[in-house]
Amino acid sequence: MSTDEIRVTATESEAEPEVASGAEPEVDEAAAPHLRQDIPHSARMYDYFLGGKDNFAVDREAAERVLTAFPTMRIAVHANRTFMHRATRALARHGLRQWLDIGTGIPTSPNLHEVAQAVEPRARVVYADNDPVVLAHSRALMTSTPQGRTAYVHGDVRDPASILATPQVAQTLDLTQPVALSLVALLHFVPDLDEAHAIVKHLLDPLPAGSALVLSHATAELDPSGASKVEEIYNQAGTSLRLRPRAEFATFFEGLDLLDPGIVPAHRWHRDDTDAPAGLLPATVTDAQVSFYAAVAIKR
Ligand SMILES: C[S@@+](CC[C@H](N)C(=O)[O-])C[C@H]1O[C@@H](n2cnc3c(N)ncnc32)[C@H](O)[C@@H]1O
Repeated sequence: MSTDEIRVTATESEAEPEVASGAEPEVDEAAAPHLRQDIPHSARMYDYFLGGKDNFAVDREAAERVLTAFPTMRIAVHANRTFMHRATRALARHGLRQWLDIGTGIPTSPNLHEVAQAVEPRARVVYADNDPVVLAHSRALMTSTPQGRTAYVHGDVRDPASILATPQVAQTLDLTQPVALSLVALLHFVPDLDEAHAIVKHLLDPLPAGSALVLSHATAELDPSGASKVEEIYNQAGTSLRLRPRAEFATFFEGLDLLDPGIVPAHRWHRDDTDAPAGLLPATVTDAQVSFYAAVAIKR
């Protein structure tokens, strides 16, 4: 671990990628009071869908309700996660060396920096999330190559100025050079479209030409009945979720140059370059099963 890395006081449990055992995750004492084990968290539900063990009974119950309404949710989250891998790899090959990844999620290997640094060991990544569970596990995001650097910010994307003003950003990223802004499966948790636009603008404005915007977003357009029920379940569980049609998703990319193949369901974005473990993302996956739009664009 590089001595330059930003450290947090929270500890990490030994996360294993196996399916949840039913045992409750280890909880860091400092983070515990803020964990709210009585209400489901989107990060912990996502972890459950991905087969992680960093979730509580309340998260698993809400996630099971989602799986009843939308039985291919596990395929959907793997399609989303592997889109993040492919987009990161494509941008690293394209010459990007820096990432600001907000809404990182509970660490699940390979994490973004592992994918980027496999192509370019000097890659630098700042991660941010507002969930205390992600903070508690953030040490797993600090496994940078010696040539690169990673840092973690406990921050809320609805306050983008605070994230940009952190020492982690100042010490890890050079904002005079291109940065990939990665907001993967995040903006659907910002229900107000104007606010979501303002966030993207605030984060992109200080970045130079050649920077990238990487987005994925859940939609009800590809499976109206199933996906709409998912929206309802999240909102009832206390997590505001706003699924958006393609036309609204496209507005985030106005003024930017979309990379090929443009806006597509997540599994279609350069599917030829895939590292999805066999069986998790079947070859026959349909757009409706995925119900996530994804795209990558470059700032002029
Ligand atoms: C569905 S997970 C996506 C994880 C990862 N980006 C991926 O696609 O694999 C969404 C993440 O966004 C985080 N999140 C939700 N609202 C947020 C906010 N207002 N600010 C920062 N993070 C947020 C959640 O805690 C969760 O970890």
